[in-house]
Amino acid sequence: MNHGPVIFLAAFLALTASWFGFVLMPDIQVGGLQQTNMVGVAATYPVERPGLAREGLDVYRANGCASCHSQQVRQSGTVCNVVMTDAGTNRVAVIDVLTQELPDTSRSEIEQMLVGLPKTVLKGSDRPKANRMVRALKSSGAKSSLSIVPVGPDIARGWGKRQTVAEDFLYDDPVMLGSQRIGPDLANVGLREPDARWEYLHLYAPRLEVKGSIMPPFRYLFDERKIGQAPSPDALALPPDLAPPHGYEIVPTRKAQGLVAYLLSLQATAPLFNAPLTVPPSAEPTAQTNAPSKNP
Ligand code: HEC
Repeated sequence: MNHGPVIFLAAFLALTASWFGFVLMPDIQVGGLQQTNMVGVAATYPVERPGLAREGLDVYRANGCASCHSQQVRQSGTVCNVVMTDAGTNRVAVIDVLTQELPDTSRSEIEQMLVGLPKTVLKGSDRPKANRMVRALKSSGAKSSLSIVPVGPDIARGWGKRQTVAEDFLYDDPVMLGSQRIGPDLANVGLREPDARWEYLHLYAPRLEVKGSIMPPFRYLFDERKIGQAPSPDALALPPDLAPPHGYEIVPTRKAQGLVAYLLSLQATAPLFNAPLTVPPSAEPTAQTNAPSKNP
């Protein structure tokens, strides 16, 4: 019997199905992605990384950083907080509302809530309850606002303020998502460690900055050179056991400068419609507009 047509058809179907799954569908989902509006801030997101940081992406890739570091913060949901900013003039009415809305809270604790505003009066609740409380407080003459707080294990570890979304990588090619977490997630490392000097020392000798670190040092990203007329402002401040011979200094190469600029540009905190969060007024997002100074 001739099985040729059947084998051809089976192979054809298998290949077509995978083309649909791996090429066409992803392209439909994220292929046409564009800059998007931030929520509550008149700005678009993201902006392209500064040139040096873009170079740094290639250094990041070439050195296999993504084999130990992910760049994807996961989120399991959001909760709502209600922050009272002004108790108004009718204290009794406000206390009544709070007693009604917070049945498990004692009277003295509620009275304490009215002192030293703004204060979070409702934490980790669902949206309908928070909305009801904001409305009730408003009718009693107090002012309050509702804030949306993303939650999840990664966020609890301090790795990000919200989940990572496709827009975060709009201008990155290739995208360095990473698949293992031997080190911490770096999606927001530019906020955690905003000091370029820290990053340089950590790359040169991780244990200088983090006791017992198992991250490998990347010393070949630095040059040892003779001090010219004056020491370079970029030179690393190393302890005696790592310091270069007298008259020499250790300076970051262009690659290290790019890599650190890239690390500092990793800040995904813009509130987006598909990843909402309420940013406290003191911490307005800078998106990725921060042109990282290569030496602070
Ligand atoms: C063998 C795995 C491994 C590789 C490869 C690696 N790292 Fe790490 N990295 C770690 C570990 C483990 C830590 C946590 C300990 C520490 O902070 O030193 C870490 C920490 C960090 C931190 C500090 C993060 C924080 O939250 O404080 C940064 C920044 C960093 N790595 C950048 C890099 C860059 C850039 C590269 C590539 C040049 C790289 N890492 C390659 C394992 C690795």
